[in-house]
Amino acid sequence: MKVLVVGSGGREHAICWKLKQSPKVTGLFCAPGNGGIAQLAQCVDVKATDVDGMVKWAKENAMDFVVVAPDDPLALGMVDALEEAGIPAFGPRANAAVIEASKAFSKELMKKYHIPTARYETFTQLDKALDYIGEQGAPIVVKADGLALGKGVVVAATVDEAKTAAREMMEDKKFGQSGSTVVIEECMTGPEVTVLAFADGEHVYPMPASQDHKRAYDGNRGPNTGGMGAISPPPQYTPEIAQRCVDEIFLPTIAALKAEGRPFQGVLYFGLMLTPDGPKVVEYNARFGDPECQAVLSLLDSDLMDIFTACREGTLDQLDLRWKDSAACCLVLASGGYPLDYRKGFPISGLEEAGKSAVVFHAGTAEKDGQIVTSGGRVLGVTALGDTLEQAIDNAYAAAKPISFTDMHFRTDIGRAF
Ligand code: AMP
Ligand code: GLY
Repeated sequence: MKVLVVGSGGREHAICWKLKQSPKVTGLFCAPGNGGIAQLAQCVDVKATDVDGMVKWAKENAMDFVVVAPDDPLALGMVDALEEAGIPAFGPRANAAVIEASKAFSKELMKKYHIPTARYETFTQLDKALDYIGEQGAPIVVKADGLALGKGVVVAATVDEAKTAAREMMEDKKFGQSGSTVVIEECMTGPEVTVLAFADGEHVYPMPASQDHKRAYDGNRGPNTGGMGAISPPPQYTPEIAQRCVDEIFLPTIAALKAEGRPFQGVLYFGLMLTPDGPKVVEYNARFGDPECQAVLSLLDSDLMDIFTACREGTLDQLDLRWKDSAACCLVLASGGYPLDYRKGFPISGLEEAGKSAVVFHAGTAEKDGQIVTSGGRVLGVTALGDTLEQAIDNAYAAAKPISFTDMHFRTDIGRAF
């Protein structure tokens, strides 16, 4: 099969790396890809959000299957467009991807189907939002409705901070149209875990749980990022909690989407908070998380192409998936200054040495005159396994040691920031 993966980050590198191991995949392409992906797939110069361009390229080059990994093209209906053109595609259609693209939609869905989540109200008028914040008091959470690159969420410690956030979103349009509707939520407490689940519209298969580290600096301080590192599985996600999540969250969610006429096929991302009242949904995403994907796929022994095919064909329940009995840690090496201002274009050294004891997934890299250089905020995801979580973490840090580039920044407490 000739397979095209859409996207250009560490997540897409991990997907390509895993697909490359499948005997069924005879040709592997990635649009637009990056410097690391180019070492195992043919990179294609089409933007991930260019729906028409992607369909055209996939058709002209006779792709047998397309994997749409990032949120934007999913929300734009790339899977719908590919399927309509007769090209099988992995990922939810736009009407199901809305579970990530609209927080107002996902909160309504949870309310209607009694799926545990933070109490909330939705507002389109600033004065009503401000009144509500005043009534509820702090701490309180203010969220822009649409996709805001993970930055449209303010966990406000004071009423003033919450009101300022609402004004910035609704009046100053800090996140553009994303902020014309805001969701204001009760503030939950407890450890956060991610569960990525394969879904075929009817069945849902949770992968080993994982945990992201969203803040830029050690001790969970600093600005929110796309994710500075991930571990799998996190110790807090006990078998008892896992069973509650299946019964109270995963199965009800997949059934709710089906009942709404929006069957979800693809990877459904459950962002969960393990609160004193039990597990609750913080957010849904309509795709693999990055860097959770890198850690979790490193543990998969089964053929990823078979899984993608089964998700699309509704036969996920017939697969017997196998996972390594190990733990994984993905340590992100970022450009200094990320997620704010950072410089790029710096040569990266030590990749070959690091690759001897870990898999180094590339996120923001490019190839320039035969040399791999930095080209983004998150640059690399050094991913190692271990018999225990402690060993996986130690192995990832040890493997990353030889890697260096100007302004390199990473957290020193991945998997240990409690
Ligand atoms: P989201 O984009 O909805 O995942 O929110 C980003 C981050 O904000 C989450 O990972 C949480 O750490 C935090 N957060 C979001 N909603 C809440 C909430 N209701 N209570 C506490 N923290 C929250
Ligand atoms: N790592 C969080 C996300 O991909 O949304």
